[in-house]
Amino acid sequence: MRVLGIETSCDETGVAIVDTAPWEAGEPAGKGLLGQALYSQIAMHVDYGGVVPELASRDHIKRVIPLINQTLKESNSGLSEIDAIAFTQGPGLAGALLVGASVAKGLALALNKPVLGIHHLEGHLLSPLLADDANIQFPFVALLVSGGHTQLMEVTGVGEYVILGETLDDAAGEAFDKTAKLLGLSYPGGPAVSALAKFGQADGYQFPRPMKHSGDLDFSFAGLKTSVLTQVKKIQTNGTPSASENANVARGFVDAIVEVLVSKSINALKKTGMKTLVVAGGVGANEQLRQALANACEKEGVTVHYPPLHLCTDNGAMIAFAGAMRLKKNPQLASKDWGFDVRPRWPLDQLL
Ligand code: KG4
Ligand code: ZN
Repeated sequence: MRVLGIETSCDETGVAIVDTAPWEAGEPAGKGLLGQALYSQIAMHVDYGGVVPELASRDHIKRVIPLINQTLKESNSGLSEIDAIAFTQGPGLAGALLVGASVAKGLALALNKPVLGIHHLEGHLLSPLLADDANIQFPFVALLVSGGHTQLMEVTGVGEYVILGETLDDAAGEAFDKTAKLLGLSYPGGPAVSALAKFGQADGYQFPRPMKHSGDLDFSFAGLKTSVLTQVKKIQTNGTPSASENANVARGFVDAIVEVLVSKSINALKKTGMKTLVVAGGVGANEQLRQALANACEKEGVTVHYPPLHLCTDNGAMIAFAGAMRLKKNPQLASKDWGFDVRPRWPLDQLL
């Protein structure tokens, strides 16, 4: 079964084709990815310091068909060889989601093929299984850290997700992006803050570890951002901050956020008794987080898995893959419903 996946929920247009033939759920899966194409709009939004929804939708319209053609070519597939189409149904920007939904539904109608709406976070969640050497067995705990979400989840199988904890305010990626803005770094801020933090001193500035000892598995990062703001303002009263002062702020921020993410992940593993942690979403690309999780998981005798680095941020492969896994488990899910029913707000635990 070949599934074409289309992702347009935010500022990346992603298309991919996966073939379910070589693998089963939970088995090494990387070979299932036949081809993919991605266009990032980051350069277009950078002047605005964040994603401008209307510009994002218009650009998706421009890119999606050429990217589909490119993916078909790369995967040596003709449209007639596509068995089903998966698209990101939500959550995300309404206009951007509508572009992917209408192209997916239009194609499916023209080809008389089934179409399936995928939850964007389910795409992230299952993406570590796309690694060539993935040997991940259910059940596992998933830490999902992106620009819009921060959640810990208990995953017992495809489509079986229970939220253990989540952010009460800002997402981890959002906190990175806002800190970057305060430090005069460009959007998206995660990679820039991470790089700058490497030049900072560990004892430069100490920031709070919000909710680290709250006893539950929820997060809160709004207060951390405010602490960074207060510190930056304090430094600025003495003139323009030096490069080393900025690096120390970045280091203090990264140390704080990473410590909370690691601590809550370990607590989730202890609470559920699970021995496998899967990390997904854009912040999952963060080097400091990966290093700290590697140390903590080794100490706890737990294995930790990530998607391949290029599949941490939004992409079409994770949507095609999630679609393929869902259809393999439950072929009834495919529909020939031609409405453009996107869900900009869609909690993952309301998936079913
Ligand atoms: O998963 P993603 O591509 O999009 C959403 O679904 O939100 O995540 C984007 C987020 C942005 O906030 C970006 O700053 C953050 O992931 N990010 C990082 C890194 N790479 C991307 N944050 C920290 N360190 C990184 N290396
Ligand atoms: Zn995402």
